[in-house]
Amino acid sequence: MGTEHILSIGGVSCRELAETYGTPLMIYDQAEIERKLTSFRKHFVSDKLQTEVAYASKAFTCKALLQLVKAAGCSLDVVSGGELHCARGAGFPMEKVFFHGNNKTPAELSMILENGVGTVVLDNEMEAALLVEMAAEKQKEIDVLLRINPGVEAHTHQYIITANPDSKFGIYIGERQRIVDLLKLVQSSKFVHFKGFHAHIGSQIFDSQAFLSEIRTLAEFSKSIETELDLPVPFISLGGGFGAYYTEEDQPIPVEEICSLLVKACEEEAEKNALSLQKIIIEPGRSIVAEAGSTLYTVGFCKSNANKNYVFVDGGMADNIRPALYQAKYRCDVVTKADAPKTLTATVAGKCCESGDILIENASLPAVEPGDLLLMYTTGAYGYSMASNYNRLPRPAVVFAKDGQAKLVIRRETFEDLEHLEL
Ligand code: LLP
Repeated sequence: MGTEHILSIGGVSCRELAETYGTPLMIYDQAEIERKLTSFRKHFVSDKLQTEVAYASKAFTCKALLQLVKAAGCSLDVVSGGELHCARGAGFPMEKVFFHGNNKTPAELSMILENGVGTVVLDNEMEAALLVEMAAEKQKEIDVLLRINPGVEAHTHQYIITANPDSKFGIYIGERQRIVDLLKLVQSSKFVHFKGFHAHIGSQIFDSQAFLSEIRTLAEFSKSIETELDLPVPFISLGGGFGAYYTEEDQPIPVEEICSLLVKACEEEAEKNALSLQKIIIEPGRSIVAEAGSTLYTVGFCKSNANKNYVFVDGGMADNIRPALYQAKYRCDVVTKADAPKTLTATVAGKCCESGDILIENASLPAVEPGDLLLMYTTGAYGYSMASNYNRLPRPAVVFAKDGQAKLVIRRETFEDLEHLEL
């Protein structure tokens, strides 16, 4: 019972899940997602400022997930017409949606205005001009934030403050005149209402100094704009980027700690700079769903080459591109041999025709055999959402497990699905 208990998710054993739904299978611990959402909502609060937590749906989205986000009272960050369509399908309140992106198409801007999306996060001058024009044409009002690049960049274990004027996102604060001109254009519109600045400094960040530096920069910049343009900056959005635990190398800042740190810093900066700040916003994606998700694979063939043992599984880079794309590291367990000693060091590799299709290098495993079930942890963010059909692999099914019950929320793709678009 002991191990079966550990190797179950939401009270449902992985063995049972594999028998019912097949593999590869994405399994989410629903209660864990709910805990994370609630925790951000509970701790990102202030006596002095309004606060808003917008889940970044690019990390993973589907209607079932958005129901949880909605139930927790969170807002939503979307970056495309597709993500907005999903939000609409889930009945997500449009006024709680932030629409991001550096190259929103005219069709997307139209969709934003027609659907009453709450806030657009503007990226550049051309976009601002087009939105001002379209909003007037359609006689639709819209709130906007402007994405600025604060020159603070955070990497996993460090942060750097550099003049990084060339990021594709937003406008670098060093280019003040461009920002001022854009804001003046927005100010001249009857329909487009400037609400404040947005920044996002990176993802999988463990260093709170990076966020504090971002806050300081945003606050000082907001002050200088308020003074120069006599334009209040009521909102500041800090973006997302809070780290998750993948391997023992990772030390995420607990939600409670990072939230209170951010809130305190914003309160202090608002006071110090005498800002007209009313609301602060964060956009966690990974930190909500990463740890709640795991991928269950079936082991196929194994082989030992001159210097390397391979354990092959029935998925790979098509359902999780992160190891190949970012050299991301993961942990795994063999569910069906959980009590066996880990005597084997092997590379867990996928089934795609690509040498880089490696999921975990040098994993410590028991002596596995074909048919064993391997569970890879922390695959809940940017796994399914970045999945492809490379080699025409159908995308896995996704289940939510809670209180001993599993619920299929996305069915497994079929070969027929893969032909769906062909004429
Ligand atoms: N807000 C904005 C404007 C963003 O660009 C992002 C992520 C987020 C929020 C959410 O960040 P998070 O809390 O999830 O770190 N595919 C990469 C991650 C790309 C993140 C892109 N932007 C990965 O798999 O590591």
